[in-house]
Amino acid sequence: MRLREPTAADLRPELLGTAFRSPILLASGTAGFGLELLRMDHLDGVGGLVSKATTLKPREGNPPPRIAETRFGLLNAIGLANPGVDSVLSDILPRLSGLPCPLLVNVAGSTEQEYGLVVERLEESDLPLGYEINVSCPNVAEGGMLFGADPAAVERISRRVADRTRKPFSVKLTPNEGSIVESAAAAEEGGADAVTVCNTFLGMSIDWREAKPQLSNLTGGYTSPTLLPLVVARVYSVSGSVQIPVIASGGVGRAEDVLELLSAGARLVEVGTLLLRSPDDVCRLTKEMEGLLE
Ligand SMILES: Cc1cc2nc3c(=O)[nH]c(=O)nc-3n(C[C@H](O)[C@H](O)[C@H](O)COP(=O)(O)O)c2cc1C
Repeated sequence: MRLREPTAADLRPELLGTAFRSPILLASGTAGFGLELLRMDHLDGVGGLVSKATTLKPREGNPPPRIAETRFGLLNAIGLANPGVDSVLSDILPRLSGLPCPLLVNVAGSTEQEYGLVVERLEESDLPLGYEINVSCPNVAEGGMLFGADPAAVERISRRVADRTRKPFSVKLTPNEGSIVESAAAAEEGGADAVTVCNTFLGMSIDWREAKPQLSNLTGGYTSPTLLPLVVARVYSVSGSVQIPVIASGGVGRAEDVLELLSAGARLVEVGTLLLRSPDDVCRLTKEMEGLLE
């Protein structure tokens, strides 16, 4: 068994060439690019921020409704809405110079080439620490989790990115299709510096009285603290099969959950739905973990 007892050192992890002040990262799509949180001082205490997905061209995303609350969690099918890499470079990144923590830009593409092109453009800015390569979005017709489920495609995309940047990047994998362990190994082989385990779980919710789906896209990505055991299992198996660090994503509802993911082998832990519900709770996680470890 490879389970670890987290220590105080795990709360100041050093990886991706950086000393993080906390293992907590704000998950892609739940903090935008951090502009609003920066204004509200809500980035205190977090280790870093992963931006909303960035694509080559602007994307409107899916028509509404694209978020639905279910009894135990959230379903979203935003469809990678974002202003496109040109606008991210000219309008957003220059306003983030006061960011108190590192930024990873989440990159998505509908073709394999697009990932390389977006990273190539983002290299024009010094601000991001690196990238999170999203080969696992369940809410788009082209690319998305279809890439992530195919280890050969994961390796090719990782190599394309590695060829275009010297900054570190993590490949965010899907729990929905294929073998996440094989895809993680493929990312490592292609030159990834880390893997993010994992993107959202494919879900669907129906108003049975009207026989109507809650989301216009029919299905969406499910996120919730109830996912914790599913993510712990995947973090455990992936961290046992690759040498590169694992970033956990999914299922955190409280400080103990983060410690559990660290125990399973994660080095950084992303928090999404909890941030949407209560940003203050997220700011407190690191202090709470310090208390629990004492
Ligand atoms: C509203 C919303 C939008 C999201 N958008 C993205 C995205 O653009 N790119 C991505 O890789 N993940 C996206 N995600 C997934 C999160 O980054 C993260 O993996 C997930 O929310 C973690 O699970 P948790 O919410 O249980 O903490 C999104 C999640 C939500 C709730």
